[in-house]
Parts: sequence; C-alpha cells; structure tokens
Amino acid sequence: MPESKYEQMSLKAAQAVAEQLKAKPNSCFGLPTGRTPVRMYELLSEWSARGELDWSQACCFGLDEYLEMTGGESYAAFLEKHLYSSTNLPNTSRYTPADCDNYDELIASHGGLDITLIGVGVNGHIAFNEPGTFQASWTHCVWLTESTRRANAEFFDSLQQVPYKAVTMGIQTILSSRKIIVLASGEAKKSVLLKAQQLDDCSDLPLCWAFQRPDIQVLADFDVPTVRK
Ligand code: GLP
Repeated sequence: MPESKYEQMSLKAAQAVAEQLKAKPNSCFGLPTGRTPVRMYELLSEWSARGELDWSQACCFGLDEYLEMTGGESYAAFLEKHLYSSTNLPNTSRYTPADCDNYDELIASHGGLDITLIGVGVNGHIAFNEPGTFQASWTHCVWLTESTRRANAEFFDSLQQVPYKAVTMGIQTILSSRKIIVLASGEAKKSVLLKAQQLDDCSDLPLCWAFQRPDIQVLADFDVPTVRK
C-alpha cells in the first residue's frame, strides 16, 4: 500500500529533526503540539527508543502552553507523552514558556532555536499567536479566541474547561529561529496557507508573518499552494 500523504509529511518532518540532531547534537528545537505533529513524534520516539538519536545535549522549547488550566492535558504533558519520555533528553532541557519569566532570554542563552516546527490553527494562528499579533512580539500571554477554544475543545471534557488564557512564543521568537518548518494537515489548512502567502498585511493572519522568511519550508499532506507575489 502506498504511504499516505500524512505519513510522507510526518517522515520528512521527523527526518529534518533527526538530521539536525545528528549534525549538531546540542541543537535547540521549538516544538508544536496538536493533532498534526503526532505521527512525526511517533517516528522520532521509535528512532530514539532504538538508540538511533541522542538527545543528551539537545534542548527543546515548547511553543506555547495553556494558563489557568482546570482540566485537560497541558502541552508540557503532551510533549512528555509523545516525545520526551522515549528519549534521553535531560529533564532540565525540556522547557515550557509557562515556567519561565524570560523565555526569549533563555532561548538565546542556549544559542537560539535551530529548527522551529509550527502547526497552523484554522484561524491562521501559529503557536498561540492569534490574529492581530504584532510581528515585533516576543513570548507573551494571550487571550484565546473563541474559534481556537472550540478547535481545541476535543482535548478537554467540555468547552467550558478549555482555558481562556495561554502563553506563547511571539512572532519574533519564531522568526528568529534558524530554520522554520510549517506543518499542515487537512484540507481546512489549505486555504489558510494560500491566504497567508497572498496577503500584504499580515495583521489578521499570523501564519503570514512566517512567510516573511523566504527560506520557510512547508510540509503538508495536500498539494501545497504556492503563490509568487
Ligand atoms: C493549537 C496549538 C498550535 C497548533 C494548533 C493546530 O492551537 N496551540 O500550536 O498549531 O493547535 O493544531 P492541530 O494540529 O490539531 O490542527
């Protein structure tokens, strides 16, 4: 049976992380959560459990985290479960913006992010940078939009349980990464990707800021629309 496009996307993303880690063992990664990266993490976990990847000198920075949770799974717990627990990444190198006063300074003190993988929200958010976020933003607290709360409700017992607040790497944090890889799964993300490349004013669609970087890599499980402006 031919590999699904989701499998191909996940494999390419996992390979990019693995190659980076092998080339530079003390690499720093910016890591997303959500449904999209699950298979990528499964592959990385398999390779790590087989001893093919050495994370002992690496550091991982979660892109974002809920605040004031009253239920559901934190993003730190998600990353533990889907990746960290299968690796030899030291506990002290597993960072979340919820635990840190100055995340950007911390990232810089580790030499900066080598690869940041970002998912895409249906409203075009990246990490938890909602529409209206400034390009000049660094790690900051946000109020989640209703559409984001609804999109993430399936990870909680009810919509009421979905937090209203979160903390997220800013657009500048992401743009400062040496490499940015966008992961997009599902047709609903196709129109967002297309729009993000067409807009001249990015203020209403945070993904658009990522396309300020001409070297951005997009991995998707559909044919990626590319627009030449
Ligand atoms: C959440 C996360 C984002 C992620 C988005 C997409 O809102 N904060 O970082 O990109 O979900 O998730 P999914 O891959 O489940 O569509």
